[in-house]
Amino acid sequence: MRVLSGIQSSGKLHIGNYFGAIKQHIELQNEHDCLYFIANYHSLTTVQDPPLLRQLTLDAALDYLALGLKPEKALLFRQTDIPEVNELTWILSTVTGRGLLERAHSYKDKTAKGIAPSMGLMLYPILMAADILIYKSNLVPVGKDQIQHIEMTQDMAGYFNNTYKCDVLVRPEPRLNAFSLVPGVDGQKMSKSYGNAIDIFDSPQSAKKRIMGIKTDSTHVEDPKNPETCNVFALLRLMADENELTKWEERYRAGGMGYGDAKKRLAELYEETFAPFREKRAKLEADPDFVEDVLIMGARKARAIAQQTMHEVREACGLVTATTKTDNF
Ligand code: ADP
Ligand code: TRP
Repeated sequence: MRVLSGIQSSGKLHIGNYFGAIKQHIELQNEHDCLYFIANYHSLTTVQDPPLLRQLTLDAALDYLALGLKPEKALLFRQTDIPEVNELTWILSTVTGRGLLERAHSYKDKTAKGIAPSMGLMLYPILMAADILIYKSNLVPVGKDQIQHIEMTQDMAGYFNNTYKCDVLVRPEPRLNAFSLVPGVDGQKMSKSYGNAIDIFDSPQSAKKRIMGIKTDSTHVEDPKNPETCNVFALLRLMADENELTKWEERYRAGGMGYGDAKKRLAELYEETFAPFREKRAKLEADPDFVEDVLIMGARKARAIAQQTMHEVREACGLVTATTKTDNF
């Protein structure tokens, strides 16, 4: 089973990305053939500052390695090292109706948030479909917000195979992450672009400040509280074990507990969970050659798969290139 996912290098990763996506990506490396890449072509739709994009691309690689990706088990690479995805994007765009893209939620959500309505933003789902289909991926682990993109990818694989009466492209299935919606400090979905995130690699002081500032309701200390509607409890659920969680639930319902107590414990759990990753990241940061080697090795293997698929795709649609006729081009 081939598993593939991508993460945009468009900002610092937060604990919603971790519990919603990355943790699962890392776990899957023990069971399947996994490919993970940094979607830096996609990032161009929002980041148009070259030094920043370079830094964020490197940061994403450091983050994945620090969080436990093992290069001997899973491939990690940059999207830009597989230029063939752009060719497949074009080919898919010729079999995809405009209506499909006009129905994309992400385009509407992003333009509503003020992101420029470029052609790139509109074509974003086709590039994402090319990312998935070029490796003949079977399973794509993502959060809820990406499900529509996977459904569009299934449609595009069908359009291509039907148009050219072939079965070159493989229909992928989405896999929802265990925690598909982690709330931010304001109770909305945690997101890089909402200013409500708790970063994975924040300093202990600054993370604690963010956690102590989580929005709660105004129930008095002595009154019973509802854990199900509390943002602090939703985050405790991600990091506390079952026993501890049951105790917190009882304390909430019994009353006599202030939200400050739960926040303090959450800050400790954040530290216990992420301090080891922070240390590992600092070591990796001191060894940029190692990180670059991992990315190059990942790209070489991934590109071999992509080139084979593109050979089949070109054959299926009758695209002739000099390289298909001679090796000496
Ligand atoms: P952001 O909204 O912060 O820009 P991305 O769109 O880059 O995040 O998402 C990267 C991955 O993390 C996706 O698989 C997405 O579904 C997941 N993800 C992002 N935010 C959350 C969240 N608050 N809860 C759960 N998963 C999330
Ligand atoms: N669009 C995804 C996101 O914002 C990132 C991405 C790009 C992706 N290509 C992909 C995810 C292919 C899964 C598969 O999170």
